[in-house]
Amino acid sequence: MTHQTVLVTGAGGGIGSAVAEAFAGDGWRTVLCGRSEAELESTAEAVSAAGGTPVVHPVDVRDEDGVFDALLETVPETLDVLLPAAAVMPHAPGERPLQAEDYEDVRAVLDTNVYGLFAVIREALQFMDPDGRVLVPSGAVARDPKPGMGAYAPSKAAAEALARGFAVDVDQTVGIVDPGIVATDLTGGAGRDPADVAELFRWAALECPPEELDGEIVGLREWKRATR
Ligand SMILES: NC(=O)c1ccc[n+]([C@@H]2O[C@H](COP(=O)([O-])OP(=O)(O)OC[C@H]3O[C@@H](n4cnc5c(N)ncnc54)[C@H](OP(=O)(O)O)[C@@H]3O)[C@@H](O)[C@H]2O)c1
Repeated sequence: MTHQTVLVTGAGGGIGSAVAEAFAGDGWRTVLCGRSEAELESTAEAVSAAGGTPVVHPVDVRDEDGVFDALLETVPETLDVLLPAAAVMPHAPGERPLQAEDYEDVRAVLDTNVYGLFAVIREALQFMDPDGRVLVPSGAVARDPKPGMGAYAPSKAAAEALARGFAVDVDQTVGIVDPGIVATDLTGGAGRDPADVAELFRWAALECPPEELDGEIVGLREWKRATR
């Protein structure tokens, strides 16, 4: 399992950072992308301490040329696993009814969570062998509306549709990973420990049968059933 490469966007904190650390134990080359270099460096320290090989490359996922350059500079051979975790939710969960969303926030959410996701997957596929895997993180709000989620919920519905669309159009395995509610900056700190759900992502990347992931949603239930 050495010399394999995983690229994580949104690697400066939350789920992205925890998953990067989880891969470190396997000695993977771990490419860390996000906007804040300081936060990426802090994840890099944790990845190194856990035995991995971190490569920090700040990038804004909304800039498709920057994303391509980041891949060109950081992926020496092929990319094995992509975790496109960068996303924004400008308001705390439950606090922004759709009718109160302002246009600037809607644009920012769709630009990052949908356009940026599309750009990252599209560019990364050029660096992946057919057996590569793309894990799109998403949650129940993409499918079951909850009050006050603003543009975030529809953006995750679109993210899931993108994953399913890529899954039917490309050879690589493209799936959705639903970790439930996780305690990160995005959720305001409520939910599961990111380190615990990181193992779900590692399982989805390494052990989940491809046909159970490709175009599908795997979550805590599937992971626990498979590993119990
Ligand atoms: N937390 C949950 O309960 C939960 C549940 C299901 C799915 N998810 C999904 O899991 C993923 C990670 O969420 P999280 O909870 O870990 O959120 P988080 O802690 O807020 O992390 C999101 C990361 O995305 C980066 N980011 C934001 N805009 C970016 C941009 N334009 N370009 C590059 N990086 C950008 C941020 O860093 P910078 O600001 O430095 O760029 C941040 O490190 C998201 O896709 C989210 O929708 C989360």
